[in-house]
Amino acid sequence: MPEIVTVTQQGRVGIVALNNPPVNALSHALRSELCARLADALAAPELEALVLCCEGRTFVAGADIREFGKEPQPPDVPEVVEFVERATKPVIAAIHGTALGGGLELALACHVRLAAATAKLGFPEVSLGILPGAGGTQRLPRLIGARAALELIIGGAPVNAARARELGLIDAIIEGDLKAGAVAFAERLIDQGRPPTRVSARTVTLEEPTLFEEFVAGITERCRGQLAPFHCVRAVRAAVELPFAEGLKVERELFAELMRSPQAKALRHAFFAEREVAKVPGLPLDTPARPVKSAAVVGVGSIGSAVAICFADAHIPVSLIDTSRDDLERGLAVVRRHYANALETGQLDAPEMEARLGCLRPALDDDELETADLVVEAVFEDLELKRDVFGRLDAICKPGAILATTTTSLDIDAIAGGTRRPEDVLGIHFPSPTPAVRLVEIARARRTAPDVCASALAVARSFRKVAVSVVARPGFIGSRMRSRQLREALCLLEEGALPAQVDRAFYEFGFPLGPFAAAARDGLDVIGSDANPNGERLSEREQAELALEASKARGVVRRTIGDEAILERCLFALINEGARILEEGVAARPLDIDMVWIHGYGFPAHRGGPMFYADEVGLSRIHTAILDFQERVEPTSWVPSPLLERLAKSGSGFYGAP
Ligand code: CAA
Repeated sequence: MPEIVTVTQQGRVGIVALNNPPVNALSHALRSELCARLADALAAPELEALVLCCEGRTFVAGADIREFGKEPQPPDVPEVVEFVERATKPVIAAIHGTALGGGLELALACHVRLAAATAKLGFPEVSLGILPGAGGTQRLPRLIGARAALELIIGGAPVNAARARELGLIDAIIEGDLKAGAVAFAERLIDQGRPPTRVSARTVTLEEPTLFEEFVAGITERCRGQLAPFHCVRAVRAAVELPFAEGLKVERELFAELMRSPQAKALRHAFFAEREVAKVPGLPLDTPARPVKSAAVVGVGSIGSAVAICFADAHIPVSLIDTSRDDLERGLAVVRRHYANALETGQLDAPEMEARLGCLRPALDDDELETADLVVEAVFEDLELKRDVFGRLDAICKPGAILATTTTSLDIDAIAGGTRRPEDVLGIHFPSPTPAVRLVEIARARRTAPDVCASALAVARSFRKVAVSVVARPGFIGSRMRSRQLREALCLLEEGALPAQVDRAFYEFGFPLGPFAAAARDGLDVIGSDANPNGERLSEREQAELALEASKARGVVRRTIGDEAILERCLFALINEGARILEEGVAARPLDIDMVWIHGYGFPAHRGGPMFYADEVGLSRIHTAILDFQERVEPTSWVPSPLLERLAKSGSGFYGAP
């Protein structure tokens, strides 16, 4: 096995190279070995400066998240970082790939930071419910100022090398060979006889006296219910107000508190689940995928145009096919508007926008279908219409083309039955046309071939989406659970709650939108469909009136229902349906359900998804509540799922013993 840390000599410079695939995370083995090898290199008289770099695809991508929640083994990351900064010879970080979290903290402890032009640097800790706990919150403001530090640490998104240079986060960008450039830089430092300069020795002054108050005010709404962003602000504030050593202590305390929090546990679960979801049980990772170099979308409504954008974003040429010129023009206008907006907001530059628009081929006839490797049908939700389209596809598409339907509510086996190649047919469901919604459900029908499934998963990942594999049954995971939840929310309206109250309770829980607001956004007309046959958006007052009328019509005496009771009813209904989906095998694992809800339906990641949340609440408590609802609310819809009942009685959770 290759050594995890090597030191090689190049002239007067020692190259300390870390090699801990896949992402050079600071595992216990790496930390120990790094300290030992560094100590040797610092003691070697022939070495006058050191270059710290990494083998493989990236610089250190952070602490080893798998060790979180366990007893830390010395030396911990802060000790390693302090050791590097105290070095008596200049240590130069040579960064390629991503320097993230503890990796960036390690770089901040070095005395010079150099990066490849393609490198990215950032602090993703908030997305794990913690803060940079190895001096990052104390050194970063000293280097780039308090405001920029707050933005980087609380924003969580990495910056590219050019921006890092502008901020003063790195000293230079190295074009060409990074190691060679870093060694040359080290030689110059040696020649100049400059002693190591330490970031911790700098002072930081507050640019704006009310910076912290304003910053907190700016994130209060967006980060509601989360601990980490606010703890980050407190830690950065300590960097400004306290000497370095005292600031470090504050950082340690805040870090330890966050590390123990249920939010950090939930976010770690979400991190690993996002990676695990790609490993589909029963579908070996080496299942060959069919190449998808061209695509077609049939039906250019809101979902069809959103799918076309995904292909164009992935630089896959895509034909947009519709039978009506007006519909085609409308769909194209949606796509053009999307890209114009991306250009205006700086998400794309003009050449990239042109390249993506250049991937689109609008057409009114089926000729374009002949060559497509993957065809996505996105016509109106009607079985006969879809079977017709699939009959057409069967006649025109080349052998081996993948045929996907965007339905969730119809029987995909029946749709596949409209072809002579059901093994090439599967479902591909985007819960929302909004590009920010990252979920795609890939639904295997009874006869879908494994390589067709693998291909669709690979394509979805090339869209940078989170692809969840499900067994095709009407509703899949997301829509089916959402319908159950919405039904419960509607019952609550009749009993005494108001739509705005239900939505607010969900919002406070962490959802971006409550069930009614989300339904209205997605064009579902759920409130008082008799009174509102055209599905128009209703004002809060009209919605309330409809709820009162509904109670009256059913002879229900309205009562006051608290926010907690609203959430329990709706979330426990959601969880019970999730348990049924698991026992029916529609979802293979609870994590598939959690990923669907976090990435497709706005379930707050810091609560881990509905099934993880259920384990945190305790299945026994949920089971008891369900039995109570069965008695008090409605006997038929409130039957505990046998799986939930079994687990609750055995004291277990969806993810095993608590
Ligand atoms: N610790 C442990 N394992 C990690 C890891 C980490 N920090 N980062 C990635 N991995 C693992 C993944 O789980 C995955 O494992 P499997 O192959 O077994 O599924 C593997 O490395 C590859 O990861 P990705 O699939 O995510 O690879 P990618 O190329 O798409 O992305 C990456 C690479 C951008 C580095 C991404 O993995 C990432 O964002 N990692 C997390 C970075 C992070 O959050 N760092 C901060 C850690 S907290 C910290 O450092 C606190 C502190 O102050 C001390």
